[in-house]
Amino acid sequence: MDSGACLLSLLVALSTVSHIRSEPILRLPSEKAISSDYCDSWRLAVETNNAGAWERVPVNCVNFVAEYMTGGRYRRDCDVVGNLSLAFARSVRLVGDGRDAWVFDIDETLLSNVPYYEETGFGFEIFNETSFNNWVNLAAAPALPANLILYNELKELGFRIFLLTGRSEYQRNATEANLLLSGYRNWERLILRRSSDQGKSATIYKSEKREELESEGYRIRGSSGDQWSDLWGYAVAERSFKLPNPMYYIP
Ligand SMILES: *[C@@H]1O[C@H](CO)[C@@H](O)[C@H](O)[C@H]1NC(C)=O
Ligand SMILES: *[C@@H]1O[C@H](CO)[C@@H](O)[C@H](O)[C@H]1NC(C)=O
Ligand SMILES: *[C@@H]1O[C@H](CO)[C@@H](O)[C@H](O)[C@H]1NC(C)=O
Repeated sequence: MDSGACLLSLLVALSTVSHIRSEPILRLPSEKAISSDYCDSWRLAVETNNAGAWERVPVNCVNFVAEYMTGGRYRRDCDVVGNLSLAFARSVRLVGDGRDAWVFDIDETLLSNVPYYEETGFGFEIFNETSFNNWVNLAAAPALPANLILYNELKELGFRIFLLTGRSEYQRNATEANLLLSGYRNWERLILRRSSDQGKSATIYKSEKREELESEGYRIRGSSGDQWSDLWGYAVAERSFKLPNPMYYIP
């Protein structure tokens, strides 16, 4: 059966079931029902946010995600996003008053935590704050190559760069050290969660911070992040660029 016919029969099957049970027409299969050849479709549903919030990589997709992250595909996907971001940036007419801004997230955007997630099942294990903080303190995350290139090009073009991360103030030193070690220089400001920001969803916290930048007169031309919560909410950028991340979801 080709994939179109397959989808059609799935839709028919689901609508029949939903007719009987009056459930929503289309839902993702439960975690256990996801077979390994379904994982690329699962990944697309996750990236487009059709899947909504999800807690962990389905057990049957762990190998798929590991292969995706380390087998070259992730790198290529990020390169495409980086190139498209740069093409947009070059099309922007900068005012040139030092207020044209670009906002970057950090984790899985400027820095790659793949070495950490390799040790923890690529998103299969539930997030462990203690062990992740230990990793952050090592300041050993490599740069995400596509975004290091983009970052440097944006600086050349005259954008002011703001780093807006869900990491907390107490991680400032380790985060700065890691950014410098992996090649990033001369950002305008590094914004981390203060105690008053704890407990806010990423969407609210990041929207509030972007709004503060706008009230200082910055025009947020572009924004890059691996989570939708880096990009949407309010005070959004003129263009937002979503990096892939099939390992975890942050609301
Ligand atoms: C991205 O752009 C660079 C430089 O123009 C080019 O060498 C590379 O092939 C592009 N990569 C992709 C995946 O489009
Ligand atoms: C979380 O990580 C810490 C440090 O590696 C470890 O001691 C602890 O057992 C882990 N907690 C869970 C629930 O796995
Ligand atoms: C961070 O670094 C600064 C200057 O290098 C130092 O004074 C401060 O004690 C450090 N803070 C922490 C929490 O390590």
